[in-house]
Amino acid sequence: MIHTPKTAIEVSLDAPAAVAADWLAVGVWAGDAPLAGPAAAVDATTSGLISKLRASGDVTGMHLELTPVLTPSGLAAKRLLVVGLGKQDAATRAVLHDAAAAAARHVTGKKVGTLAFAVPSPEFTLAAGVGLAQGCQGPGVRKTTPTRHAPDRLVIVGGEATALPRVHAEAEGLWLARELVNAPPCDLYPETFAVAAAESGRKHGFEVEVWDESRIAAERMGSLLGVARGSVRPARLALLRYSGNPGGPTLALVGKGVTFDSGGLSLKPTDGMVDMKGDMAGAAAVLGGVQAIAAQKLKVNVLGVLALVENMPSGTAVKLGDVLTARNGKTIEVLNTDAEGRLILADALCYATEQTEYVVNFATLTGACLVALGTETSGLMTNNDAWGDQVAAAIRAAGERSWKLPMDASYDGLIKSKVADMRNTGGGRWGGAIAGGKFLEQFVGTAKWVHMDIAGPAWADNDSPALDSGGTGCMVRSIVELARGFGERPA
Ligand code: BES
Ligand code: MN
Ligand code: ZN
Repeated sequence: MIHTPKTAIEVSLDAPAAVAADWLAVGVWAGDAPLAGPAAAVDATTSGLISKLRASGDVTGMHLELTPVLTPSGLAAKRLLVVGLGKQDAATRAVLHDAAAAAARHVTGKKVGTLAFAVPSPEFTLAAGVGLAQGCQGPGVRKTTPTRHAPDRLVIVGGEATALPRVHAEAEGLWLARELVNAPPCDLYPETFAVAAAESGRKHGFEVEVWDESRIAAERMGSLLGVARGSVRPARLALLRYSGNPGGPTLALVGKGVTFDSGGLSLKPTDGMVDMKGDMAGAAAVLGGVQAIAAQKLKVNVLGVLALVENMPSGTAVKLGDVLTARNGKTIEVLNTDAEGRLILADALCYATEQTEYVVNFATLTGACLVALGTETSGLMTNNDAWGDQVAAAIRAAGERSWKLPMDASYDGLIKSKVADMRNTGGGRWGGAIAGGKFLEQFVGTAKWVHMDIAGPAWADNDSPALDSGGTGCMVRSIVELARGFGERPA
């Protein structure tokens, strides 16, 4: 049911021209500086092919420019792909990641045995490797004739072999997260998501404990169960425990896992519901991230909490005006059943903050965050600026994007209720993303906590040069980066 590529990822220290492959991709920087590194090496064995393409204006080096040469001579590879890398002084992990991903997307529409990518320098092995992996996966795996074909081998030419375990781990974590988001809700619902988590744990060396609906009730998670009770699919809470630093602090990662969000009785119109199989992208990021952390055996302790429900309208569904009681005893007036993410996260955050002081949650929480920040940037809300800055720095280093939204007391009114401790919505149109953050803040006690609203970046409506439409796998790389820094110096 979960289809992920079976592709070997390797490093080669052979000269680019000597690498036997169906495609050899080589990057060229923008500008007039003399060719260097692998581009110069390829130029030398092909009688100045890249120089000629530059002279004719066919190759400019502009970022993501792709120039295929189908019958090159002077190379062991069958075909050459010249890839624009942009200005050399602007090169970042994201720039190289996208260039490698675009190269892979260009060639994997057809079946390919080996795709080699020559990195301009070894420091880009991680960016190139994970980028190539990204470009090998798409949403069309359920077509009779799939629209994307993962190669048998990806070869990073001139790469750093010591970076390979991390490349493998992040590539597979990204594949898993994207495929979970792309999987149809008839296949992926709370029980099967929990099974996928258990399988990942068995394979990659972390513990997975799954709570069923009666255990969840015994744990007093009335807010989460309120959402779940409209569906014939019972809720699950999956706890992922990876211990790589015994005795050290624990990083808790909490994911919104609404496997389908119809809106409940506050039913969404078709246009708003059509992509709501992706409303579990937060939980997918946490599972993909924890898998990637465990697979490379990082020296850190991580607790993943996946809150898994389906949000449906029915005779048993939670009603407008109902009052739910969360695990910490706080009461919630439900005024819109479509604000369900915060209801399930309330209980998951209570649990996480009982276990540790350091918590980050990931959730496709509000359309309002898309209005505020667009599709490429996640909203970051926190009760602790130092911890918020540490999370933001990890996201930046991973080549992903976030922007901090205010959380001061002037926003408290957004969640005031006349009949319960708070309401889940109903405060009008303004400040919707922050209202979600202020609500969640009620369930984190004194923990250092960050709320990531990933409603924009989690899903791509259309193909782009570096990424197929559908699940994006956002935050998997950031979670790994955060975990790497956390072992040594939590805020
Ligand atoms: N899952 C949605 C948020 C969402 C919208 C994610 C678009 C991705 C793309 C969430 O459960 C939701 O429905 N939020 C409501 C909140 C409102 C009722 C306060 C929204 O954004 O309209
Ligand atoms: Mn909703
Ligand atoms: Zn939702």
